[in-house]
Amino acid sequence: MPTMSLSGSEPRAPLPALIQIDGLQKHYRTRSGESVQALGPIDLTIDRGEFITVVGPSGCGKSTLLKMLAGLIPRTSGTIRVNGQAIDGPQRDIGVVFQSPVLLPWKTTFDNVMLPATVLKLDREATGARARQLLDMVGLADFANRYPNELSGGMQQRVAIARALVHDPAVLLMDEPFGALDAMTRETMNVEIRRIWRESGKTVLFVTHSIPEAVFLGSRVLVLSSRPGCIAEIVDVELPAQRDLDVMTTERFGSYTRRIRQHFQARGFIE
Ligand SMILES: Nc1ncnc2c1ncn2[C@@H]1O[C@H](COP(=O)(O)OP(=O)(O)OP(=O)(O)O)[C@@H](O)[C@H]1O
Ligand SMILES: [Mg+2]
Repeated sequence: MPTMSLSGSEPRAPLPALIQIDGLQKHYRTRSGESVQALGPIDLTIDRGEFITVVGPSGCGKSTLLKMLAGLIPRTSGTIRVNGQAIDGPQRDIGVVFQSPVLLPWKTTFDNVMLPATVLKLDREATGARARQLLDMVGLADFANRYPNELSGGMQQRVAIARALVHDPAVLLMDEPFGALDAMTRETMNVEIRRIWRESGKTVLFVTHSIPEAVFLGSRVLVLSSRPGCIAEIVDVELPAQRDLDVMTTERFGSYTRRIRQHFQARGFIE
């Protein structure tokens, strides 16, 4: 007797992890021909919607990790998969924000945000509408026609964030994006970037030198060892999803920052 198909109730194959990193390593070759092992091996699974922060000593390979994830430099060994697809070359589904905003000074805020539309040959009307929405989201709706030198450092960095999101990538990579900002602007930007993350549903990987910033922003903090950077510890941050700066005064916040600071103190990276 033929069996009845119950396709509606058949278990579905689980979705692949958003980012799957296996045995990832990077060796650079210096001009004098020496090989420098900069990173790895790294194994890491990142799920959709996570906010991962990365801390580690200077020169341990944090930027190298981000550049390989963005497909901007080749790997030496290992694999990176985004949505199950191996990465080889720049990815459309990834947006990147660097330490300095790198805006084109002769273009307005709006046109700077629209740059990926030109590079990726996107529909200008639809992308233009999205650019306006993003400028609104980062609080710059009234500055669309201003030029970069008419904006503060924090505003320029917000333009760079809007630009990284304009093609609607699933993943946002940020390499010390607030490093050059003063302490107060930086705190404001931290609250802002968490709000943008919650509203946009993106997956974020954020590199920082600041332990409090890593704990405030992250749902997980990746603590890297010195070069070649390997994952020394992963700290799950159990703080409320909706965080304001007051969370930094709580005992729990203090216990996370202490734990990470002690990790680096024990290894002589901080006093
Ligand atoms: N193009 C390159 N050629 C040779 N060595 C490089 C190159 N780029 C980086 N390195 C080396 O690789 C290591 C990791 O560099 P990377 O820029 O990833 O570190 P980082 O963790 O981002 O440091 P920082 O916190 O100071 O930004 C460093 O020792 C650096 O000297
Ligand atoms: Mg770096």
